[in-house]
Amino acid sequence: MRFTFAREPRLEFGPGSLASLPRILAERESVEGPFSLVVLVTGGASFRSGPKYAEILAALAGRRLLEFSCPGEPSPDFVDRAVAAVAAALGAGEGRCAVVGIGGGSAMDAGKAVAALVPVALRESRAGRPVPSVQDYLEGVGTKEPEGLTAFYAAVPTTAGTGTEATKNAVISRVGPGGFKKSLRHDAYCPAVAIVDPELALGCPRSVGAASGLDAFTQLLEAYLSPAASPIVEALCESGIAAFGRSFLPMLADGSDLEARSGMAYAAYLSGIALANAGLGSVHALASPVGGRFPAPHGVVCGLLLGPAARLNIDLLAEAARTGDRLDRRAAEAALAKYGRAGGILGGTSGASDGCDGLLEAVGRFEAAAALPRLAAYGVSREDVPSLAAAAATKTNPLPLGAAEYESLILSVL
Ligand SMILES: [Fe+2]
Repeated sequence: MRFTFAREPRLEFGPGSLASLPRILAERESVEGPFSLVVLVTGGASFRSGPKYAEILAALAGRRLLEFSCPGEPSPDFVDRAVAAVAAALGAGEGRCAVVGIGGGSAMDAGKAVAALVPVALRESRAGRPVPSVQDYLEGVGTKEPEGLTAFYAAVPTTAGTGTEATKNAVISRVGPGGFKKSLRHDAYCPAVAIVDPELALGCPRSVGAASGLDAFTQLLEAYLSPAASPIVEALCESGIAAFGRSFLPMLADGSDLEARSGMAYAAYLSGIALANAGLGSVHALASPVGGRFPAPHGVVCGLLLGPAARLNIDLLAEAARTGDRLDRRAAEAALAKYGRAGGILGGTSGASDGCDGLLEAVGRFEAAAALPRLAAYGVSREDVPSLAAAAATKTNPLPLGAAEYESLILSVL
């Protein structure tokens, strides 16, 4: 057995944990010196007009603040503009900032990227050199390697989904023809602190909770099934799958159920740790090209593909276990056993039957309850399918899929 395990954030978890933010900033300052600026990166306007944001502002009273709102997925332009404004506010002196990203995955990724680029912008602008764009550092897009410098970054999720509060990458998107959805990634970009306060998700609309929750579950299942999953990742995924199983349907039934929101927040956090350490499978391989070209929310794409992809993997693994085609027989049997264990865990929490059939049955119930719109609702048509399938890439699906199989997956959710 040989594996590595990435650094995790310091975690403050539980209802009311948001109140720890001022103390965390003060503790950091006692070690590293004062922050001359606190940068708040939030999502859409709804959170900023709510009582929790007022609480944050009150807790940070007396501090110099700079606020940015990132209503959609962060674009390179958004990140570059915010970084330039922060650098200008800090000026030519020795000023330092802390960045706090509060919101769904998009706002937290935006904050993570801003925190990562601020030190670079300060160094370059203070030396009189041009400041690079975040795009220069994106995987598969830019030509520069991330240096791993970052401002102090605290991630505060208000939805239970992407788990980006526990990961070392930020997804930056340019949507439309020629669009992309690519990662800014470095071990150092893992947030210094994650404040996971399930009370923040109480106002999250049902449709958002459904889609982002299925994203978290997809991440748990895909990381669990990844050939790169270590025993620690497997243990975390089993715990996360159990929490999801007992929380998802209760959360959809009653968005004010704090215990269900807590279970979902826990599952999402674990999904972030798991994906950072084990990678993801065929659903996320397709989610990148679909999300880059069409305005379909990431959680919707994942939630739609989750069931068909699990069924396809299970069918192909069963075949491989018989024939040894495409995958070694023992590896296929081990992967099938994991799907079965996931089914067993869900059976124990949601009343579904055991094993692979139980897993597919439970996923069907989750997807039915989520009632997600199909991909055609976001403008995806049959003509787009071959190029989307051709752009799908992952090394960590339990077994390799061909372009025709990726096409069949997208066609099944059009
Ligand atoms: Fe995801």
